[in-house]
Amino acid sequence: MKNMGRLITFEGGDGCGKSTQLKLTADWLRGQGKDVLETRQPGATPLGVEIRSLLLSGEFVPVPECELLLFLADRAQHVQTVIQPALAKGQWVLCDRYSDSTLAYQLAARGLAEGVDLKPMLAFAEAGCVPEQTFWLDVSAEIALKRVRARTDMGAESTRLDEEALSFHERVHAAFIVICQQYPERMLRIDAGVDIGKIQKNIQNQLEALLLA
Ligand code: TYD
Repeated sequence: MKNMGRLITFEGGDGCGKSTQLKLTADWLRGQGKDVLETRQPGATPLGVEIRSLLLSGEFVPVPECELLLFLADRAQHVQTVIQPALAKGQWVLCDRYSDSTLAYQLAARGLAEGVDLKPMLAFAEAGCVPEQTFWLDVSAEIALKRVRARTDMGAESTRLDEEALSFHERVHAAFIVICQQYPERMLRIDAGVDIGKIQKNIQNQLEALLLA
């Protein structure tokens, strides 16, 4: 059955500004008369809140395989209890991170995919829910990490993954470049090194076509 709603995801390294852009995009779409659901991974269901805390609080250090499975568990729960029902109602679902984050962080940056094909597992967790459009907010790992550190200095909480070394975040960034090349129709690279208004305008321009479709 074809979903009536639309699933749009926002991806990028930590500190790329995607959460701000998701919010602005949601407001803009509402202005166009759309019913919009803003959501995120991990942690957008009651069970997901617990999984998010296990993953990111820093209290535990999961082995990479455990980390992968917990992100997928969060996604399966989120897709089936939140995203699919919203799409069935015809909502525009804007999701902060989705499977591309798993490809970039776990499969690539953690090196879990070396010699193993883990993509079927990602598809299993998605349960057929593939984003129609993905915005990759591209900014260098160095700049993004500086933003994260500045936020932390201002009192914002940092996650276990924010604390990873620059080299880890550089691997995440390199992975997003590859993913973007692999899925050129779905994933659009947005230059996130410019000012917030310009980034938003760029996203809106790209969405105009979807609004007509
Ligand atoms: P969050 O505080 O939501 O960060 P951000 O605002 O940058 O999205 O933390 C989510 C973290 O989880 C982030 O570091 C990316 C990571 N992550 C993965 O490693 N794999 C995944 O599949 C997902 C969804 C997120």
